[in-house]
Amino acid sequence: MPEFIALHGRASSLVLEAVAGGAPLWRYWGPRLPEGAMPEAALAATRPLPTFALDKDVALSVFPLIGEGWFGQSALLAHRAGADWAQAVTQCEVSAAAGEVRIRIADEISGLSALVLLQLDPETDVLTASTELTNAGEGNLDVQWLAAATLPLPPDTRRMHFYNGRHQAEFGPQVQELTRSLWRRENRRGLTSHDAPPTGFAETEGGHVYAAHLAWSGNSVQQAEWLDDGRYLWQFGEWLAPGEVRLGPCETLRTPELIATFSAEGRNAAMQNFHAAIRKRMNWPGGNMRPRPVQINTWEGFYFNHDMAGMKALADEAARLGIERFVLDDGWFEGRNDDKAALGDWTPDRKKYPDGLGPLAAHVTGLGMEFGLWVEPEMINPDSALARAHPDWMLTGVGRPMLTGRNQMVLDLSKPGAAEYLYGTLSGLLESLPISYLKWDHNREIVAGAPRAVYRRQAQATYALMARLRAAFPDVEIEACAAGGGRIDAGILQYTHRFWTSDSLDAVQRIGMQREFLRVFPPEVMGSHIGTAPAHSTRRRQSLDFRAGVALAGHFGVELDPMKLDPKDKVRLAEWIAVHKSLRNRLHSGRVWLGEAGDGVVWQAHGEARDIVLLLYRVEPTAQRHMPLVRLPMLEDGAYTVTRLDSTRTNHTAPFIEAMRDGAIVSGAWLRESGLTMPTIAAETVAIFRIVVA
Ligand code: GLA
Repeated sequence: MPEFIALHGRASSLVLEAVAGGAPLWRYWGPRLPEGAMPEAALAATRPLPTFALDKDVALSVFPLIGEGWFGQSALLAHRAGADWAQAVTQCEVSAAAGEVRIRIADEISGLSALVLLQLDPETDVLTASTELTNAGEGNLDVQWLAAATLPLPPDTRRMHFYNGRHQAEFGPQVQELTRSLWRRENRRGLTSHDAPPTGFAETEGGHVYAAHLAWSGNSVQQAEWLDDGRYLWQFGEWLAPGEVRLGPCETLRTPELIATFSAEGRNAAMQNFHAAIRKRMNWPGGNMRPRPVQINTWEGFYFNHDMAGMKALADEAARLGIERFVLDDGWFEGRNDDKAALGDWTPDRKKYPDGLGPLAAHVTGLGMEFGLWVEPEMINPDSALARAHPDWMLTGVGRPMLTGRNQMVLDLSKPGAAEYLYGTLSGLLESLPISYLKWDHNREIVAGAPRAVYRRQAQATYALMARLRAAFPDVEIEACAAGGGRIDAGILQYTHRFWTSDSLDAVQRIGMQREFLRVFPPEVMGSHIGTAPAHSTRRRQSLDFRAGVALAGHFGVELDPMKLDPKDKVRLAEWIAVHKSLRNRLHSGRVWLGEAGDGVVWQAHGEARDIVLLLYRVEPTAQRHMPLVRLPMLEDGAYTVTRLDSTRTNHTAPFIEAMRDGAIVSGAWLRESGLTMPTIAAETVAIFRIVVA
């Protein structure tokens, strides 16, 4: 009897087949199998050899290699000055224990070894996979590609959902049919990117979902390829530039982790698995998340126009509104009056802050708020004292013109002294000021450096810098930002606590972006602010209630000058802040469900089957005489109290709709199978309900 290795999650299982002297074969990844349910026989015993084929069956393994007669994508592309390029497994040891399979592979002829790690968390159903390659031979090994994992997709896989986007338009959902051509996405922008983040959702004919995300903040590849047996191979890994990875003898290359999940219950369940897994991976100060403080951020309200008196007045106003954290954005440091100069010179501007930031920080904390500061450590303006002192720290090709982006260059962290300079400067700020939060930005893409590509070293140096700062200042939270959502991934989230989702605060546009954000990341790490009307990014105008209702579910904040609001809106703003505080524990725990009710209405629910907050967004005007019903699939049988929480009033109402304001009793089974009656609301309006077991 061949040896099979099975890992079981809550609702998914995977089965591998051990092979003498080879890497284990992928036999199964899909719905949960009962313990002991194993393949009927070894794969080779179940399928005859096709005509015109190798005389040995070469099937998809966890580490398929080009030298084994494998004609699909290899897990490894590497060579030693042209030799040792066709690797094959000569030895393999598999050990399986508590939810984990470790596969040790050697190719004694090519002189390399590898460790493939697969862990399936039974609680979350999330598979974590990574690969480590060691140069066990003589001479250097040039690595062009090393898959973090090679996964199987079943033959009825039909389409891939993925993202495209740009600054101010993150998470544009895309979907493509899988065909017999190679399907491949590459990101070569040096950071996670707005346009090709490393996330995919493969969907089968029957609605099963396979979701995967590479926890990495650099270049990436994902590809899906049809195989001879009708399945697809699905790989993720780093995109490596020519010559970027050259392993000396005994050196090791470790891939980023891939997190992946299977769900037989569609995309909501896959999302919930990711949320649970990401929550387990989070590294909060003190070990646990505390309620997310409501923030004010100075950027869109003030841009570079800082002065001490104005910022103190803003802090006073923010505290009155109930805001809990004051984040001083770009514009605070020496010579930073526009986006043309000063990145790198991280000392307070003497004209704007004659006595430094100490008095402002003391004022903010004196009001009972936390003080946060914006920095963009990995950047340098050619017009800065830092660039004048260290012109060679600007990442550029030898003899090539400087390719600036937003007038700035990337600070080459591989240059001796550069990372140390940043640590010294940032730790100096954190030591001398009561800063409990850094907004860590990265406002341009990385282009080729010299003489060798530095992409992955740069991402690793950033992680190392963040880790060092977190160790020295464990109470400081960090927000990851890259011109909005250019660096949203589970890699950087090991060191950070919030993402700045997008520089677009247009609430209509935000609905779509935030829904897609949530498909991988939980709402408490989704930075969502109430911006101005009109929105700076689109010039579209939306009511304060709508803007607030859209921002409500994430890590909530305000990004406008409240002193410029009309008195009515200012009162409403304070009310919304209070509403958020009263709901945030529910919004930021349990599960999230996303749905569409039709007729221009989308909804999301946060919580548990017995207690949810339901947000209904009417995005488009209605085209129906009567409103659609909203079916809530998570509810159980039995009675629920449905309470409407928003205060939108309209003349088009009915007695039961009004009764819901005081809490109406409705059967859960009815709400689940028939649906909730929704109020008649205009386009760009939100309705909010709390639905709790009665
Ligand atoms: C980026 C960020 C913004 C803001 C500016 C400051 O665009 O996404 O939120 O911090 O930089 O320059």
